[in-house]
Amino acid sequence: MPRALPDILRVTWPEGSPAPPEATDAALDRAAEILRRGGLVAIPTETVYGLAANALDEETVDGIFRAKGRPSSNPLIVHVADDAMARSLAGEWPQAAAIITAALWPGPVTVVVPRAACVPSIVTAGGNTVALRCPAQRITRRLIERANMPLAAPSANRSERLSPTTAHHVLESLGHRVDLILDAGPCERGIESTVIDCTTSPPRVLRPGPLDRASLEAVVGEVADAGPEPSVKAPRSPGQLSRHYCPRTVLEIPADPSARVSKLLAVDRRVGWLVLDNGDSARTLATSKNLVAVPMPSDPAAYAKCLYATLHALDQRQLDRIVVDCPPSEDAWSAVRDRLTRAASDRQAS
Ligand code: TXA
Ligand code: MG
Repeated sequence: MPRALPDILRVTWPEGSPAPPEATDAALDRAAEILRRGGLVAIPTETVYGLAANALDEETVDGIFRAKGRPSSNPLIVHVADDAMARSLAGEWPQAAAIITAALWPGPVTVVVPRAACVPSIVTAGGNTVALRCPAQRITRRLIERANMPLAAPSANRSERLSPTTAHHVLESLGHRVDLILDAGPCERGIESTVIDCTTSPPRVLRPGPLDRASLEAVVGEVADAGPEPSVKAPRSPGQLSRHYCPRTVLEIPADPSARVSKLLAVDRRVGWLVLDNGDSARTLATSKNLVAVPMPSDPAAYAKCLYATLHALDQRQLDRIVVDCPPSEDAWSAVRDRLTRAASDRQAS
């Protein structure tokens, strides 16, 4: 018999109040109970929604891989309530991890450190490092405290698909595969955390994210680059294949978007266009009933915040193609460029 769709419980914590409303704590207690029983709960974070399970229980973590259709070679991030919980999961606490977490936690940065023996190897995909993150979303930190366990949580989407930035996206992607969804509204950052490997010297960015290299270097000194744009042949971190973060609609980043859009419209294709206002306001935009042109913010953080929601929305419209204006080449745009490049990568790649 098919499982029922999960309840979606609204959780809030007004700014300035020392504790959340009672209804939120009641929702967190229900979530904690499900997690203790080995269930899966979709949790809000400041980056994207996560699909959480008890990180210390091998069998329930296996449930995450099955729900997502995720290859077991792709390790998970473990979410912690504080520094002490993070250290209890690390075999060693490298100086770079100490500096980065002291300055930037809670926040959208994940540190990769040697793993402690208590972390099941399914979490780390058999590797001897573990990825740890203390989310800025305080409702989720409170859940971790109340459940009294670290939470393994990848983004709450089917493998290779767009990450969810609302509870509704989670429901669309995972439906009955999740036991409960906690809804704290749209995510503040909208793009996955920066992942930094602290086992190398200098530490190395494995996945660009909301905290760019300049903000990391300001606290920890030299940081090695993420390297060239991702390729399927040489993933930067285990499981980080380039075909990732895809909308269902084919997406491309042409050199001349206006020409490309006109050409597609000329052969009657239905096109979504993410238009970057790069000051080139003289550019004539094609207009057509077959075109959905979406103006995108010219600030990288604001762009990141609405990127997935925009792609999710365009995916609902049965378009033939999504065309994206190429984002600027500055470092502050590297996370957005990374996600768009992956979204555009060849569907035949894997
Ligand atoms: O913002 C985020 O990080 C979100 C929210 C839910 O916290 N989570 C997220 O998880 O994006 P996921 O599973 O979609 O991406 C985790 C990334 C993958 O690229 C994975 O390969 C990498 O982190 N990763 C995990 N453990 C690792 C490890 N031990 N070494 C290197 N990379 C690792
Ligand atoms: Mg993901």
